[in-house]
Amino acid sequence: MVRTRSQLAWVPGDPTEVDADLDNQVARAHRLLGRRRVLVITGAGMSTDSGIPDYRSPDAVPRTPMTIDMFLGSPDFRRRYWARNHLGWRHMDAALPNRGHHAITELQRLGMVSGVITQNVDMLHIKAGTAPVLELHGCYGRVCCVDCGWQISRHRLAGILEPLNADFSARIRSRGAIEVAPDADVAVSDTNDFAMIDCLECGGALKPAIIYFGESVPKSTVQQGYSMIDDADAVLVLGSSLTVMSGLRFVRHAQRCGKSVVVVNRGHTRGDDIADLKIDHRCADVLAGLIDAERVGSRRPDSSAQHQIVGVHHRAS
Ligand SMILES: NC(=O)c1ccc[n+]([C@@H]2O[C@H](COP(=O)([O-])OP(=O)(O)OC[C@H]3O[C@@H](n4cnc5c(N)ncnc54)[C@H](O)[C@@H]3O)[C@@H](O)[C@H]2O)c1
Ligand SMILES: [Zn+2]
Repeated sequence: MVRTRSQLAWVPGDPTEVDADLDNQVARAHRLLGRRRVLVITGAGMSTDSGIPDYRSPDAVPRTPMTIDMFLGSPDFRRRYWARNHLGWRHMDAALPNRGHHAITELQRLGMVSGVITQNVDMLHIKAGTAPVLELHGCYGRVCCVDCGWQISRHRLAGILEPLNADFSARIRSRGAIEVAPDADVAVSDTNDFAMIDCLECGGALKPAIIYFGESVPKSTVQQGYSMIDDADAVLVLGSSLTVMSGLRFVRHAQRCGKSVVVVNRGHTRGDDIADLKIDHRCADVLAGLIDAERVGSRRPDSSAQHQIVGVHHRAS
């Protein structure tokens, strides 16, 4: 069988090798997930095809992400952070959902996906039209005051910062292309002339509405996540190493509740041992296969409908 999907599959160690096994693995995944309510959990690997790098791909550039203590600990650090974010956030804002995000929306239209819990802050599931989406770690599009909780959209903040920092931006951009990190940080060091504003309500420090390393996900958000798992029959993890406990706990909860767990990720994850199936491939290719399988499945006579007809027939005779 000729399958361009298989020919595009990523194979550890050799990106050019064709993995003929992908069709079998997708079929196994569909046996666990097909015609059921599947809750999807996504991580940074979901968005690498949209040009947003992750932290833990085999070929990822080693990075030290900012911690909340670094951010809160020093006004100088915050000014440097905001200067770099000012130059980098539009890169994330301009990113578009890739075919994997669109495939999840299609699987939802087909009745297979009940919702998404994402560790990503890039808003790409929302841009792709999936709902509900629980953003475990917040999103880049809002900024809040660390003292009073006042919020402003990132677009509106940019409208305030741009005229204050026209010379700064022109100076940096005149040097040419800048490298953008996963959290919209850029590699620029001379940021002393950047002007940042404080909270317009109380004068407190402003921070993107993102959960940074060292911060906890709010209890209410965790509770919503558990409810979404409880409402589903199965869980599909896409593009996450599950290194961060905030995502791993939902996978463990699903497994403890006896729900099927399928993990699709390039490389090892902390959920591999408890998954019913692990597929080491690109998310978008596996999702394309699941759509094919679900469409074929939905053309088959529904076995539960057949049982009902048999039952009615039995009672009538
Ligand atoms: N897009 C974003 O919003 C973004 C990007 C980077 C980091 N983050 C934050 O950093 C934390 C990192 O945790 P994480 O577990 O989400 O990411 P991670 O970097 O720990 O893991 C990503 C995994 O995806 C795999 N991967 C990369 N491309 C893939 C593809 N096309 N198909 C299948 N697998 C692929 C990688 O090998 C890696 O194992 C998150 O909590 C998140 O908040 C967010
Ligand atoms: Zn405030």
